[in-house]
Amino acid sequence: MNDKRMVMNDKGMTMKSKEMAVNDKGMAVKNKEMAINSKGGHAEESESFIRLKHVKKLYYPGTKREIAALKGIDLDIEKGEIFGVIGYSGAGKSTLIRLINALEKPTDGEVWVGGVNMATLTGDALRRKRMKIGMIFQHFNLLWSRTALENVLFPLELAGWPRARATQRARELLDIVSLSHRKDAYPARLSGGEKQRVGIARALANEPDLLLSDEATSALDPKTTDDILELLLSINRTLGITIVLITHEMRVIEKICDRVAVLDEGVIKEVGRVRDVFAKPQSAIAKRFVAEALDAEDVLMRETARGPVSEPATDRLLTSSGETRRWRLIFVGEVAERPVITELIRQHAVEINILRGEIKRLKDTPFGTLTVEVSGRLEDIQKARRYLEQTGVIIEPPGEE
Ligand SMILES: Nc1ncnc2c1ncn2[C@@H]1O[C@H](COP(=O)(O)OP(=O)(O)OP(=O)(O)O)[C@@H](O)[C@H]1O
Ligand SMILES: [Mg+2]
Repeated sequence: MNDKRMVMNDKGMTMKSKEMAVNDKGMAVKNKEMAINSKGGHAEESESFIRLKHVKKLYYPGTKREIAALKGIDLDIEKGEIFGVIGYSGAGKSTLIRLINALEKPTDGEVWVGGVNMATLTGDALRRKRMKIGMIFQHFNLLWSRTALENVLFPLELAGWPRARATQRARELLDIVSLSHRKDAYPARLSGGEKQRVGIARALANEPDLLLSDEATSALDPKTTDDILELLLSINRTLGITIVLITHEMRVIEKICDRVAVLDEGVIKEVGRVRDVFAKPQSAIAKRFVAEALDAEDVLMRETARGPVSEPATDRLLTSSGETRRWRLIFVGEVAERPVITELIRQHAVEINILRGEIKRLKDTPFGTLTVEVSGRLEDIQKARRYLEQTGVIIEPPGEE
């Protein structure tokens, strides 16, 4: 039925023929055609794949029980991105995701997906649009009386696929999620990770261009979480599907997301590239999330680390003209892989005492932090700071000595 719009790739997966261009920031460049929708709904030349304009969501509006779940959200998500929304329980994350697939309607504001204002869709047009938005959940939401294969068949049956073609497609989907060998198992016999793979295969059944994930890894152990995140990343890359995922865990964000929005009490407090939010979180809540993901002491220390450190962690004697500063050095990207500290010591008359350090990857970007004490004459410390800043290291606290 969808043959005209599909091609087979060399892995035997069905995918859309229009490939995504990728820009230098690693984000897929939006496809202009996306904004034009001829299948119902009012179309416009929308800038972004998903656009929320001043979205408010009240539950029980006008009553004593009124809850403001979302308080005026403006958000743009680009085609091909993996976009994360992080927030604590009750922040409004699930509400946000239910607005994107029109399971909920905003009390105020507009939700646009693929150039279509979701509020203008009804009946068949709404049903068709929703079919193009896959969804995965924390508790998988599988049908317990159906095997893995039959669970994946379910959305194809609803879409009216002929049995033979649907079965073939369901098998391909189980292959994409590496679960062919478990196709006849019932959910009760599957591990959490396997159940989520079935959930993902089912979500991909109708060739969505958008996949929404509501805490899809929250019920899984860390290793299985990593495997599922790898799978989502590969789906994003090979099938070009935009992914919006919500989570309360920074480790999910750092592993696969391009950008992140930090949601708190129905308000987006901060939005940006993951590497930028890690390097320089602006809001108190983003600082807290980053602190949790790195080292609480380190990030929270940034606020107070100005001035001489009263108790150097070493027992070396300082000369009367000597000064000590405690800095947190942040290395983002290529600079994280260079021997900056070695060069610093070679070229400058300062002593470096390393208190702690950590290096990790934010998706494809190396990211390191190093907490150091720098001792020496004030002018040498100042020169050391200039050298580090010139090489692209971010120093906390910022500013002159
Ligand atoms: N269907 C609903 N009816 C009434 N209130 C709701 C409904 N859904 C959510 N809320 C309320 O809206 C607020 C935001 O809830 P939401 O489920 O979006 O948060 P969340 O960030 O997904 O939280 P969690 O991490 O616990 O899943 C909460 O105060 C919640 O009680
Ligand atoms: Mg939720």
